[in-house]
Amino acid sequence: MCIRSLVLATTVTAVALSASATPLNPRFDYTVKESHNVPPQWSNIGNPDPLHHLTLNIGLQPNDFESLEHHLHQVSDPSHPRYGQHLTQEQVHDFLKPADETFDLVRAWLVDNSIDPSFCNINTARDWITVTLPVATIEQLLDTKYSVYEHQDGTRLVRTTSWSLPQALHEHITTIQPTTAFLRANPKGKTVLDVPIDVDLAQAVKVADAANTTTIRGACNFGGMTPKCLRTLYNTINYKPQVPNNNSIAFNNFLGEVSNRSDARTFLQNFRPDAVDSAYAGTQISINGGAYDNGTAPAGIEGNLDLETILGLVYPTPVTLYTTGGEPPFNADKFTPTNTNEPYLTWLLFLRDQDLSTIPKVISTSYGDHEQTVPPSYAKTVCNQFAALGAQGISLFFSSGDFGVGANSSCVTNDGKNRTAFMPSFPASCPYVTSVGGTMGYPEVVAYDTRNGFVSGSGFSNYFQRPKWQSTAVEDYLDSIGDQFQGLYNTSGRAYPDLSAQAYRYLVWLNGSVRSVDGTSCSAPTVASIFSLVNDALVAEGKSPMGWLNPWLYQSGFEAFTDVVNGSSIGCNGPGFGASDGWDAASGFGTPDFEKILDVLGVGVS
Ligand SMILES: *[C@@H]1O[C@H](CO)[C@@H](O)[C@H](O)[C@H]1NC(C)=O
Ligand SMILES: *[C@@H]1O[C@H](CO)[C@@H](O)[C@H](O)[C@H]1NC(C)=O
Ligand SMILES: *[C@@H]1O[C@H](CO)[C@@H](O)[C@H](O)[C@H]1NC(C)=O
Ligand SMILES: *[C@@H]1O[C@H](CO)[C@@H](O)[C@H](O)[C@H]1NC(C)=O
Ligand SMILES: *[C@@H]1O[C@H](CO)[C@@H](O)[C@H](O)[C@H]1NC(C)=O
Ligand SMILES: *[C@@H]1O[C@H](CO)[C@@H](O)[C@H](O)[C@H]1NC(C)=O
Ligand SMILES: *[C@@H]1O[C@H](CO)[C@@H](O)[C@H](O)[C@H]1NC(C)=O
Ligand SMILES: *[C@@H]1O[C@H](CO)[C@@H](O)[C@H](O)[C@H]1NC(C)=O
Ligand SMILES: *[C@@H]1O[C@H](CO)[C@@H](O)[C@H](O)[C@H]1NC(C)=O
Repeated sequence: MCIRSLVLATTVTAVALSASATPLNPRFDYTVKESHNVPPQWSNIGNPDPLHHLTLNIGLQPNDFESLEHHLHQVSDPSHPRYGQHLTQEQVHDFLKPADETFDLVRAWLVDNSIDPSFCNINTARDWITVTLPVATIEQLLDTKYSVYEHQDGTRLVRTTSWSLPQALHEHITTIQPTTAFLRANPKGKTVLDVPIDVDLAQAVKVADAANTTTIRGACNFGGMTPKCLRTLYNTINYKPQVPNNNSIAFNNFLGEVSNRSDARTFLQNFRPDAVDSAYAGTQISINGGAYDNGTAPAGIEGNLDLETILGLVYPTPVTLYTTGGEPPFNADKFTPTNTNEPYLTWLLFLRDQDLSTIPKVISTSYGDHEQTVPPSYAKTVCNQFAALGAQGISLFFSSGDFGVGANSSCVTNDGKNRTAFMPSFPASCPYVTSVGGTMGYPEVVAYDTRNGFVSGSGFSNYFQRPKWQSTAVEDYLDSIGDQFQGLYNTSGRAYPDLSAQAYRYLVWLNGSVRSVDGTSCSAPTVASIFSLVNDALVAEGKSPMGWLNPWLYQSGFEAFTDVVNGSSIGCNGPGFGASDGWDAASGFGTPDFEKILDVLGVGVS
């Protein structure tokens, strides 16, 4: 039995002061709530500074998530009478708020641990409690020991492999992070893949300028992707947004990634001159000290790629940039030079508490990591937050990953058995997001680039069961591949991607010069932009926005997609899932045709 230290909250950050004070709460009833193995490629390099601070997000058991899920399915199912009747924020809060008993027990536990609840941040629905504490205090609260872990690429995180709670609290708390989640949403964890530019820029600009967009070949140079090509290929070029005052789109930048609007302006001058005004028009929202373009913060390739891609496609629809930081600042000691808070939840909790009318109805995110880097409880809780956004009519697009079924050297399980297996990616594996794969060329094939190892990501979740809405499509595909790859993937899991778009050699301005970039970080903002235009057409007719897309996509939306039948998601030292007729695990349903989507929806057909 250990003795708990007394914690006195003195400032907004609670600080441990005394270690020898009265034992307030013997921990005899503590039992392990969760254990999770350290993912391969990470090693324990030592102890953190006991004063290193982490911002803990404590998730409380919602009183009725099942009902929320039930409503979400109804309002997202085009054959249901309630299709499009999204929930209000109050309705969502009512389903997600914990029982009073849950809240009171968790609060009492914090008080017992001398954590002053007035220094905790409690969200509107009261299902999340956030508190910043020194590692030493957290170690006592959760009866655990944190270490500094270093990834092969140099990223460092302060994490643990197991944590405990009083037995009576197990059923009341869904997850607490950062503990065992090694997911990184930082510049090293993301996977934009820069390639040396190999097209004649002047020629690319000239092609982009050419009046002839009647044909794809006339509008495109597939070695240097431009908005004009995407707009021609996906059939948005003749569409003029009708209600830009009533529609918007957002994308996410995490830890330190900044979008340079001066670069965006140059990009638009070259590739979308009519949209130049929009470069500086977007709303930048800094969450938790997130960096944004203030003239001095250095820009990054991901931030620029997302902003430029979206502006080039949706003008004049307004664009919101969410930039989530990892504040508060940590103690920069010798072991932890990088910030180690958990940005995803920070962003989600911020969004949950915004007035719904201020949240764009389409959000693109180009970050992800191996599903096994996070424990199931974390993945499920985050995925449920996405469901809550979907129920309110928000469509979430995530890139499917950039290494096929797994980078050759990474295909080892984390379940203690070190089995060879494909590596699904999270959040792409969450059923409540739409997962976007990548293509190249024309006719389009599954994208890969031998120059940087890029291959469009695909896979089957080990955490999320295959949902009903995709069972027919996926089972047909599984029948067609038979026992190929048996044992390497989870045949009962949620399969992705759902759909695809070009992900090869996008031209991006960064710091005044043009670069060329591959990755599903290209296709996610492209698809998000197209669906933002779909929302524009819907809203202009007084209809609801798309919301959570997947049931519609698998039921009828797929008819508006161009099937991708060649190529495969090469990886894990093998060929990976192949593309084929209809849905396949390499390209989903293929690539969007905007005008056909409007037809399928019965919108704006004149
Ligand atoms: C546009 O390109 C197509 C196919 O290359 C060609 O048939 C057509 O004449 C061109 N139109 C103009 C105005 O150049
Ligand atoms: C601009 O942003 C950077 C990075 O977030 C920050 O360090 C700097 O203080 C900011 N400068 C101004 C003038 O706000
Ligand atoms: C941008 O270019 C300037 C001048 O070439 C250089 O000093 C700076 O480091 C560059 N910034 C980035 C983010 O690459
Ligand atoms: C799995 O790999 C880890 C890290 O390389 C090693 O420490 C462990 O002993 C291995 N376990 C088995 C069962 O082979
Ligand atoms: C797809 O594969 C078929 C059969 O191998 C081939 O005939 C066709 O040309 C390929 N199409 C593309 C776009 O690569
Ligand atoms: C396969 O997925 C299911 C959930 O869909 C899960 O219960 C099971 O543990 C997974 N199997 C493995 C080996 O991860
Ligand atoms: C933004 O990009 C411009 C070039 O387009 C460059 O001059 C400027 O230094 C960049 N700003 C920052 C803060 O990197
Ligand atoms: C757009 O919003 C304005 C007010 O914000 C409202 O008056 C108008 O009816 C809306 N238009 C459509 C098409 O929804
Ligand atoms: C991964 O392995 C496959 C099969 O051995 C090989 O074709 C491919 O080039 C490798 N990928 C990389 C990036 O090395």
